[in-house]
Amino acid sequence: MADRSVSRECGFKLSDFPRKSAHAVKVACASVWECHQSTTRAPPLPATRLARVEVRPEAIRDRSAVRALHVAAFGEDHVPVVANLVDELRDAVRRGEGLSLVAAERDQIVGHVMFSPSLLDAPKRLLPVEVLSPIGVVPERQNQGVGTALIRRGIELLSERDVPLVFLEGAPRYYSRFGFEPGAAHGFRKPSLRIPDAAFQVLRLPTYESWMTGTLVYAEAFWRHDAVGRRDPKA
Ligand SMILES: CC(C)(COP(=O)(O)OP(=O)(O)OC[C@H]1O[C@@H](n2cnc3c(N)ncnc32)[C@H](O)[C@@H]1OP(=O)(O)O)[C@@H](O)C(=O)NCCC(=O)NCCS
Repeated sequence: MADRSVSRECGFKLSDFPRKSAHAVKVACASVWECHQSTTRAPPLPATRLARVEVRPEAIRDRSAVRALHVAAFGEDHVPVVANLVDELRDAVRRGEGLSLVAAERDQIVGHVMFSPSLLDAPKRLLPVEVLSPIGVVPERQNQGVGTALIRRGIELLSERDVPLVFLEGAPRYYSRFGFEPGAAHGFRKPSLRIPDAAFQVLRLPTYESWMTGTLVYAEAFWRHDAVGRRDPKA
């Protein structure tokens, strides 16, 4: 398989993340879970079908399959970090402030993405925004449109909720196809100097307005789990 290095663009090499750092959690960018079912204030979400894959909100019964998916996608070493982060982010999803979607092929979960709330420290006020992290697709179904289906459906649903901005850390080569652009180009500042400039990306949705500039402030869970940027072991 071809090396998908993106180092010339952003300093990140996505193929390294699963083995090298908790950053895998962030960059694949998105995470999951809990269902938007009767326990949440958010209305039930319709499912989307792409080929044989159905994209739908994560249900409680999916939890172990989602965990297994991340073991396969990221490697066993990173699963505790992913699982702990996602467990915390699930609370926000339960409150209807985020999104956790799975891609299901028949009864098998083959992909998962989470969008969760963070804040933009804008001149006028603190503005709720969303962060895409983590995302994972089982190896045997990668490069077949599953990640694309998850992200596109997430963007569609967040647009319907009038979310103005979605941020992530990741490879521009992959995320630019969804409309993500370098954050700095639109007046946004990254939450850590350890994030390469090109990796810090933003998607401006229809309710975005030009006054919405400033610094992204990650939800505390990302800091608690040291899932922001990359650590330099030689520093
Ligand atoms: C990254 C990931 C979520 C993408 O989902 P996917 O379903 O495999 O990708 P899609 O089928 O939607 O898109 C395929 C395209 O993405 C590109 N792509 C796939 N993985 C990529 C990666 N790690 N970096 C950059 N581009 C990637 C493919 O080259 C292909 O490009 P093309 O359309 O120009 O040919 C998935 O491959 C994955 O979970 N990988 C393992 C974990 C990982 O490396 N995560 C990334 C950062 S931690």
